[in-house]
Amino acid sequence: MTDTLKKIQEVAQKDLENLRSLAELEIARVRHLGRSSELSQFLRTLKDKTEDQRRELGQLANNVRQELESAFSQLKERLDDVAYSALEKLDVTAPAGRPRHGHIHPLTQAQEDSNAIFASMGFRIVEGPEVETEWTNFDALNTPADHPARGMQDTFWLKGMQYVMRTHTSPMQVRFMQAHQPPYRIIVPGRVYRNEATDGTHEFQFHQIEGLMVARKGESAPSLANLKGVMEHFYQRFFRDEHIKIRFNASFFPFVEPGVEVYIQGSSGKLKGRWIEVAGAGMVHQNVFENVGYVRGEMQGFAFGMALERIAMLKYKIDDIRLFQGSDLRFLKQF
Ligand code: PHE
Repeated sequence: MTDTLKKIQEVAQKDLENLRSLAELEIARVRHLGRSSELSQFLRTLKDKTEDQRRELGQLANNVRQELESAFSQLKERLDDVAYSALEKLDVTAPAGRPRHGHIHPLTQAQEDSNAIFASMGFRIVEGPEVETEWTNFDALNTPADHPARGMQDTFWLKGMQYVMRTHTSPMQVRFMQAHQPPYRIIVPGRVYRNEATDGTHEFQFHQIEGLMVARKGESAPSLANLKGVMEHFYQRFFRDEHIKIRFNASFFPFVEPGVEVYIQGSSGKLKGRWIEVAGAGMVHQNVFENVGYVRGEMQGFAFGMALERIAMLKYKIDDIRLFQGSDLRFLKQF
């Protein structure tokens, strides 16, 4: 019997020598002194013994237990010290690590800048659906059935051919006009889709900023000259360049008459010394007013549309549109 006790003590002692952490120590303590340890089991067998045996073996077993307990608590103290001195090495006076801040995406930044500039000119920012009906995206905008933009090559049609991923933000002109009476001025930022092969200047998904300002015909109704003023103010502030000049080139979009392409020239960076096309625009076509339920000839206004990526690329000197969606941190971290 005392052999059993001896064995128990030896095994436990041996285990103790290999303990390196407080966690290991606790596991070992439960194993050797806990309720299901061999020592506890041994003590439980005593009740079947004679009174003399019980006294003698009980005494021995308790000695073993006390020795083990004190060995465990000594080791615990040592390990506590080790853990504490590791803590002491923590230099609380050292400068803190710099927290890593994220920041907003350059396109979002450009979008927010643009919204703020137009809002300061009294434009209301509204958004529309990215899935449009064929009617709002094309028909109501006076775009005939045989217009090339309606083809499978240019447009993502949804099943059944009545819905399209909007190819521009102009359908929101239609939705807004249907629900409101002039005067109003709105800006519609948002994502648009075109079935294009991607390259440095084309993405199948990009963003546009649509503008629309309409009033009842009369002296103060928005004119082409007002459009020019709005464009000039916007681009001067967006590019922080008060020398930006605006030029209109005659152009064609089915939903405006006359239609123009907006060109700008600035005094620095990519805009210096050359005319760059930045938007399509024009006076809202009377057919469009009629399509949304206004009386032909009663309203007058202008509309414009530009690609957010294009002006962001000019502003931040980015030469590949694919970088915006590429998630390359080397690119994104520069902003
Ligand atoms: N929606 C046209 C486009 O995507 C741009 C535009 C908007 C032109 C408003 C004129 C008026 O190309």
